[in-house]
Amino acid sequence: MVIGKPLLTVEQIQKKVKELAAEISRDYKGKELLTVGILRGSFMFFSDIVKSIQVPMNIDFLIVSSYIKTNNKGKIEIHADLREDIKDRHVLLIEDIADTGLSLSHIRDLLHNRSPASLKICVLLNKKERRKVDVPLDYIGFEIPDKYVVGYGLDYENKFRNLPHIVTFKKST
Ligand code: IMP
Ligand code: MG
Repeated sequence: MVIGKPLLTVEQIQKKVKELAAEISRDYKGKELLTVGILRGSFMFFSDIVKSIQVPMNIDFLIVSSYIKTNNKGKIEIHADLREDIKDRHVLLIEDIADTGLSLSHIRDLLHNRSPASLKICVLLNKKERRKVDVPLDYIGFEIPDKYVVGYGLDYENKFRNLPHIVTFKKST
């Protein structure tokens, strides 16, 4: 059972997605993008934002899972790597949330080694208070408090991803 308090409505999310897309479209004007969704969490955000980005693009996905985060070293497992060669391309990572920052910094290092022309990160949500490693976030949708949230792609035990809005989550006792 979920005891959820609404945090972000469908309207708030959709408005923000359009604003982010407009900013990205301005910044990449005249360039071609390789937009990379980090799955599974970003699937909804990804599919909404690419619809509003007005720049020619290719898309690709990374399927990862984060593991127990001991001693500040994010352990992530890559279940499916990119299919595209990113060398000399403008890569934009799309992620649902930056929490400790460990996953994103690991992914960033991994992709950096493949020599993209540029590599930027766009997150819908940022839980700054929880950060353990510094990771540069180029586009941030919402700063949120240190609460566990679900919906709009974000899960608890792989559930609630299909909610169109975002709610705080608490397990009922
Ligand atoms: P980080 O490595 O700690 O930044 O964790 C990032 C990943 O943890 C995200 O991609 C999410 O999959 C997951 N995560 C972190 N916070 C939440 C949350 O509040 N709800 C759902 N998933 C979360
Ligand atoms: Mg995730």
